[in-house]
Amino acid sequence: MLNSAILMMFLYSNFVSSTDVEDSTEFQEKIYKGKDVLRKGVYPYFCSIQIPNDRYPYIHYCGGVLVERNVMLTAAHCLTNTSLISKLRILPNYRNRRVIQKSDPIIKVKNYVIHPDFLKQRPYSMHDIAVVLLDKPDTRPKATLQLAFRRLPVNTKVKLIGFGIEIRDYLSDALLEATVTIKDDKKCLDEKTGFEYAPIYNFCTQNNVGAGGCYGDAGGPAIWQDARTNISYLYGVLSSEQSPCNKFHTDVFVNVFAHLKFINDAYLQFSREQFGCPKTRKAEITEYDY
Ligand SMILES: *[C@@H]1O[C@H](CO)[C@@H](O)[C@H](O)[C@H]1NC(C)=O
Ligand SMILES: *[C@@H]1O[C@H](CO)[C@@H](O)[C@H](O)[C@H]1NC(C)=O
Repeated sequence: MLNSAILMMFLYSNFVSSTDVEDSTEFQEKIYKGKDVLRKGVYPYFCSIQIPNDRYPYIHYCGGVLVERNVMLTAAHCLTNTSLISKLRILPNYRNRRVIQKSDPIIKVKNYVIHPDFLKQRPYSMHDIAVVLLDKPDTRPKATLQLAFRRLPVNTKVKLIGFGIEIRDYLSDALLEATVTIKDDKKCLDEKTGFEYAPIYNFCTQNNVGAGGCYGDAGGPAIWQDARTNISYLYGVLSSEQSPCNKFHTDVFVNVFAHLKFINDAYLQFSREQFGCPKTRKAEITEYDY
């Protein structure tokens, strides 16, 4: 337990410092052996969550994914610094590049819900998921990715995308993608490499050329394409990766299918607040129970 706690802090501090790693000499890697996304308009629903920066107006901080035109999923740990939330700027994937242009719409966080058990229940990776309401909808066609509707079998391939660290200390300017394979829960637990893992609620991936996420890729999606229909689904949200990323290539995702109830509850909460609806009787009873 103690080891895990220290590692979580380590991951966090590495993650948070991903904004100034461009000055660092630490060896860090990208979506390791990821490939540039060159096809236009292929992942419109991917979002870059950016924070203000001294040198640039904004810099990439975390990934996210649009599941409704104005609702984005990301990792809960991307939103733990509450003083940062109102300063965040969201860049949907217009051009497979992370630099915000003057003509881009200014999209901010209007409201958000972090999973109620995040940081209250170990392992922390178990509930590392948050639902974010944006202050304006993305009006492009096909701007959203559908939520997973079932569990996927072991050895299914999913796509991981992100702007995370690449080539030593630098964030990738181009959106990178890698195809990774879902491993079984037992193998994920057996990795014994220090990170926390919750079977069912998490899934882990690897790839036989060693591709995987790195700092700045958290919150990004694992995308599964149904070969029968060619429809893509959001299957996972990247929570953590082993460090250093160039050496270890196992990524831990939050399993979206296992969190559908939380995601649905967050939608309902946003709608209730928007329309001023009363809480449901069931919700009231739950509150009295506390
Ligand atoms: C949280 O964000 C603020 C900027 O709004 C920054 O000054 C502070 O260092 C951040 N805290 C942590 C723990 O990263
Ligand atoms: C899915 O995509 C493949 C490759 O682009 C294509 O050959 C196939 O016909 C598509 N299947 C459906 C059901 O659209």
